[in-house]
Amino acid sequence: MSRPDHDPEPVPGPPVPQPDGLSAGPSVAPSVGPSPGASPGASPGAPADRGNALGAPEVGAMFDRIAPVYDGMNAVISGFQEPRWRRRAVAATGLRSGMAAIDVATGTGKLAGSLADRVGPFGRVLGVDVSPGMLERARDAGSDAPWLEFVVGDALALPADDGAFDAATIAFGMRNLPDYRRGFSEMARVVRPGGRVVCLEIARPRTLAGRVGRLWFERAVPLIGRAVRQAEAYRYLVSSVRAYPPPAEIAAIMAAAGLVDVRWRPMTLGMVTLHVGSTPPR
Ligand SMILES: C[S@@+](CC[C@H](N)C(=O)[O-])C[C@H]1O[C@@H](n2cnc3c(N)ncnc32)[C@H](O)[C@@H]1O
Repeated sequence: MSRPDHDPEPVPGPPVPQPDGLSAGPSVAPSVGPSPGASPGASPGAPADRGNALGAPEVGAMFDRIAPVYDGMNAVISGFQEPRWRRRAVAATGLRSGMAAIDVATGTGKLAGSLADRVGPFGRVLGVDVSPGMLERARDAGSDAPWLEFVVGDALALPADDGAFDAATIAFGMRNLPDYRRGFSEMARVVRPGGRVVCLEIARPRTLAGRVGRLWFERAVPLIGRAVRQAEAYRYLVSSVRAYPPPAEIAAIMAAAGLVDVRWRPMTLGMVTLHVGSTPPR
């Protein structure tokens, strides 16, 4: 992963070569200092305290309502870049045939489906989400892979044993959680020592070109949301992205959650960030 060019915060740690094709990037020590400052809409305080202002039941009900339009809207809003972002997230897991993965806040199960393709029939993938409406679509799409299972559950109390998986992923889900650190801690808990935790999330780019993209996102998304009669949900999308901490702070939260070797990579002008951390080896 490359050192993020849009992020002025100093990042400790040298670039580290990646064995899996990911480029080198910053690493973060597993301790955090005081918060660089709270964003509007997020809980204030140290990075460990940060999270979305809405609770899981409220967010789940909202995603139940938008489930029928979710995939189409995602394709349009991402400028059809989303499959590429997901491919990179899958590659970052380091998963191989026969391994096990959990996809948290799996939604309609797109990333879970790609993970299932990667681990194959001797592997196992569990997708977890609070929204039964989103999972209904995930089950329809993934029904031809019996090693892919979906269950209703909360990201902050995952329905899984400690160390049960080789990797945990979350795509466009972390910014919806009321406590980011607990979200990462839970993912770390269910991953075996030396496994990976991967987080793909919308970011707020700071490059000039990225800011133009951000302007489009912040202006056009609520209008498109209104056109599909989901104005409130797509206003929420914009505000949850505004409230989400910058990449260096997310990396610090991951480190505070016990992950090591944390690094990140901005994609598509910094509109999206891929964070990767590992659980400490035994
Ligand atoms: C923007 S969607 C992302 C879905 C999918 N991961 C994707 O890449 O398209 C966010 C998802 O997070 C889920 N979610 C929000 N809060 C959650 C929580 N506390 N636990 C589990 N899932 C949650 C929502 O129901 C929704 O399906």
